[in-house]
Amino acid sequence: ITLFLISVIGAYLLGSIPTSVWYGIGYFGVDVRQYGSGNAGATNTFRVLGKRAGTIVMLIDVLKGWTATCLALLLYYFNTIDAGELLTYKIIFGIIAIAGHIFPVFVGFKGGKGVATLLGMVLAVHPELALLCITIFILTLLTSQYVSLSSILATLAFPVLSLLRVFGQPDTLLVVFGFVMFLLVVITHQKNIVRLFKGSESRVKLFGNSRS
Ligand code: G3P
Repeated sequence: ITLFLISVIGAYLLGSIPTSVWYGIGYFGVDVRQYGSGNAGATNTFRVLGKRAGTIVMLIDVLKGWTATCLALLLYYFNTIDAGELLTYKIIFGIIAIAGHIFPVFVGFKGGKGVATLLGMVLAVHPELALLCITIFILTLLTSQYVSLSSILATLAFPVLSLLRVFGQPDTLLVVFGFVMFLLVVITHQKNIVRLFKGSESRVKLFGNSRS
């Protein structure tokens, strides 16, 4: 139980690392939350500070989700949980990290929308499905240039593709988790969804100079 508690706190603190805010302020002297969409995430870093910064923030945010999820392996290694419980604990720690990313203790609980951290978690839980979701993300992004729409559709793809048995018999826990994550992403993207309907959502410039 102690190891479990330490892992819960560890997952939250990992998720809480405000990569975009710290990297932006530390490297550029710019708080990304004051520009662009105002979101403390990789997309807004890309928008405000350029491709390189956006990519670095994205990779670190993905790594946060992946590492937190893998804390379950630690519990398994120390015989706190058995193999049958691994997936449940991976999901628990992943969700805690995502909560940390959205409500980070280090910067006044004003964080990002959880997509990159969710990707890290999904990569740790079901890599094949994660790659398919990334493909859907890229295809949507290339055709629409909306990161928000791509994030929403890629998140929805996870439970839907599971249900379609793309990789065999779907695991009920994964499907339920997928739909809960989809709901969460819809909630964190409320403003983006309104802008998408109004036609005022900003498109990302994928090629050429992305800084605006
Ligand atoms: O992952 C966040 C992305 O889907 C939207 O970010 O900055 O355009 O609101 P942003």
